[in-house]
Amino acid sequence: MLISLQSQVALVTGASSGIGAASAKALAEAGAAVVLNYRSGREAAERLAAEIRDGGGQAIAVKADVSSEAEVEALFAETLSAFGRLDILLANSGMQRDAPTVDMSLDEWNQVLQVNLTGQFLCVRAALRQFAKQGIREEISRAAGKIIQMSSVHQLIPWAGRANYAASKGGLDLLMRSVAQEVGEQRIRVNAIAPGAIRTAINRDATEGEAAEKLLELIPYGRIGDAEDIANAVVWLASDMADYVHGTTLFIDGGMSLYPEFRDNG
Ligand code: BGC
Repeated sequence: MLISLQSQVALVTGASSGIGAASAKALAEAGAAVVLNYRSGREAAERLAAEIRDGGGQAIAVKADVSSEAEVEALFAETLSAFGRLDILLANSGMQRDAPTVDMSLDEWNQVLQVNLTGQFLCVRAALRQFAKQGIREEISRAAGKIIQMSSVHQLIPWAGRANYAASKGGLDLLMRSVAQEVGEQRIRVNAIAPGAIRTAINRDATEGEAAEKLLELIPYGRIGDAEDIANAVVWLASDMADYVHGTTLFIDGGMSLYPEFRDNG
């Protein structure tokens, strides 16, 4: 069965590159009108929006820093004024500022928590308010709205030298599950995706050359992921094919979370 998101509007944060860009493209290919949010990658976001429009889809690029309450409110207002409704939120913006904890500045801690965790809270809250206003329209979707939060295998796997990042992703797990418990009754579906090592800008150093060989030891399935591996799951999770999927995290990691170092150890 082909998945159709026709007549639906999707907002993707952090859509100028990597997983966000691939997911925005895939959502548009499935028929959704897409708002591509970016913070600094204006050119790339505008280019992708134009590419979607050239292919017959609907897309706009909108600048906003998800860690700012006012900018998130403006982002949602712009989404509504462009497309009139919202059906899908992919809360995807994320960043890393790596440092050993002993040397980590408060700024490095705060920045990562503000974007990765507070940013998702602000977007989720705005989406919930909009979904509640809209209610369910069965001809569009069985759900009143769908939220997908982008997490990481590091919501589960501790990560030395990145305590800020791992803490933000660990926090996302309980943010997602608490919200899912809270709003299920309104038929708002809330889920998360936990990618493993995906070839994107955030981890270019780790996914090329010798470092890639080392990384592969941590991936039982034996390959590094592509952004499309995640984008495909985003489309499915956003669709009614996944209508009974609620409050869960889908690990898409080639088995990275299977404790691969125990294959010949322990
Ligand atoms: C990080 C990547 C890393 C992967 C697996 C992701 O959350 O953003 O940099 O390669 O986790 O460790």
